[in-house]
Amino acid sequence: MKIYIGNDHAGVDMKNHIVKYLKSNGYEVINIGTDNEDSVDYPDFGKEVAKKVVENKSFGIVICGTGIGISIAANKVKGARAALCYEDQTTILARQHNNANILALGARMIANEKAVRLVDIFLNTKFEERHKNRVEKLNNQ
Ligand code: RB5
Repeated sequence: MKIYIGNDHAGVDMKNHIVKYLKSNGYEVINIGTDNEDSVDYPDFGKEVAKKVVENKSFGIVICGTGIGISIAANKVKGARAALCYEDQTTILARQHNNANILALGARMIANEKAVRLVDIFLNTKFEERHKNRVEKLNNQ
């Protein structure tokens, strides 16, 4: 499966950890984030990842310092459902209830190891079809 990943300057190190994990688990990774710590604007990366995820019906990961700004940016793209998660349970529920297609992470808020665990949970938790109508409403807003 193709995974789109994008980040600002705050998320470079976390992005590299996640890319390594994804590749070693057989995912095809498309890196559209910045790769150095020169200051950039997170809205550009959130939007780009969300557009690709919606176009390709795939999954994405977006990372900034808190995960807040880049998740706001991603959610402005129609069809994007970005969930900012800091721990296991909300990550599980973001998939089961909201059919989140983008995981947003805060590189200054959680450790890289935890982020990798959340990515693993996110990619391996299935949407529960009983929540379909609500997700449809989100798509039509
Ligand atoms: C960049 O300094 C920081 O504002 C950004 O990474 C993010 O946390 C915004 O929400």
